[in-house]
Amino acid sequence: MRGVYMITPEPFALRGQAAFLRRDPFLAAPGEALGWESDARLVVRHGRIEAFGPAAHTLLPAGVPETPLGHRVVLPGLIDCHVHYPQLGVMGAMGHSLLPWLERYTFPAERELADPTVVHALARHFVAELARNGTTTAAVYGSVHAHSADALFEAAQGSGLQLIAGKSLMDRNAPPGLPDDARGGCAETEALIGRWHGRGRFGCAVTVRFLGTSSPAQIEAAADLWRRHPGTWLQSHLAEDRDELALIARLFPDARDYTDAFDRFGLLGRRAVFGHGIHLSDRERARLAEAGAALAHCPTSNLFLGSGLFDAAAARAAGVAVGLASDVGAGTTLSMLATMGAAYQVARLRGALLSPAYLLWLATAGAARALDMTGRTGNLAAGLGADVVVLDPRATPLLALRSARARDAGELLRVLMTCGDDRAVHSVVAGGHVARVCMDSSG
Ligand code: GUN
Ligand code: ZN
Repeated sequence: MRGVYMITPEPFALRGQAAFLRRDPFLAAPGEALGWESDARLVVRHGRIEAFGPAAHTLLPAGVPETPLGHRVVLPGLIDCHVHYPQLGVMGAMGHSLLPWLERYTFPAERELADPTVVHALARHFVAELARNGTTTAAVYGSVHAHSADALFEAAQGSGLQLIAGKSLMDRNAPPGLPDDARGGCAETEALIGRWHGRGRFGCAVTVRFLGTSSPAQIEAAADLWRRHPGTWLQSHLAEDRDELALIARLFPDARDYTDAFDRFGLLGRRAVFGHGIHLSDRERARLAEAGAALAHCPTSNLFLGSGLFDAAAARAAGVAVGLASDVGAGTTLSMLATMGAAYQVARLRGALLSPAYLLWLATAGAARALDMTGRTGNLAAGLGADVVVLDPRATPLLALRSARARDAGELLRVLMTCGDDRAVHSVVAGGHVARVCMDSSG
């Protein structure tokens, strides 16, 4: 057998071509944001990137084995800023926009997670899928059941994955048997924070599902909890769908807009991450930016439900941090490569263009910024967590045919973001752990 590629337990080094971010593409001059090394060395030790740079100038420490990657490409590990693991089983449930989709498919599916056996099996499946897709960091919604967050963290122990998660708070407007209650839901979240927040690479999010399923009493309790636990995240949905907007306006008649409804409860701030943010005014974007809150752009979900076309340029021009997200199960893939392709298509439908550098940014360094994790992950640089994905541009016959014609790094990335998905993921390193290695004989 020719060319078997193996990555050994750390310390280890990878050698090959690598793409990374030099600067925020929104602020950089064209061509300055994307970094490319045609012969890079990346040294991993103690869960971190110990060194990264051109192989000619980056020492390989004595005794550290190095894996040559040939034609493959090293990227920062991918980040999914908003995903619902209880919804794996309702992906592709066609025929409805957001609110009826929630009622007909999503809430009934989430009710099944009352059964601990179902929860544990699903959590294990989800963690394996993250690794298979090259996603090394994710912000995850559990179901209303606290044990769904426990099961997720338990399943991810030892994987090296970096996870932010919480149980969904939802005490109204859901079918019988599903809602929690205003105080009980927050008490369960507080217990989860005690058990998991800051443990290894795990963090907790106060997860107000959306303002349509929480009473004012629960939202107040959630805001109080978030304030009392600095360093935790706050995740929710914002301005996803026109009917949802009308519902929120009915439920919170005193708020000037959807964003203001959160603001009045004190739910805007650093580490607040809102899914979607499609139907926002300039005022709302400015307020989100001022507060340091972030948006998770969920293009496959928005296309699937017909929710609308996110305006990435307006969000960035207003100074709002934006990260990319699958939003499975409304989203149609866990692959952040495929999600980058969908973000490109959504931008085209708005008449805009996203560069490969900007797409990569959205799923790596930009996503890390949106999650307030700059300096921890999202790029290839010494000191960051060793979160790395190795892509194979020849993974399928079509990819091989197309990538062979790529004239430069930018074009190769364009191909991977347009035609690539989980099949293109060769190896994954999360926090220094080798989360997935494909051995092959293709040379
Ligand atoms: N709004 C409230 N809950 C959900 C959900 O589960 N998925 C999506 N896409 N939007 C929501
Ligand atoms: Zn969502």
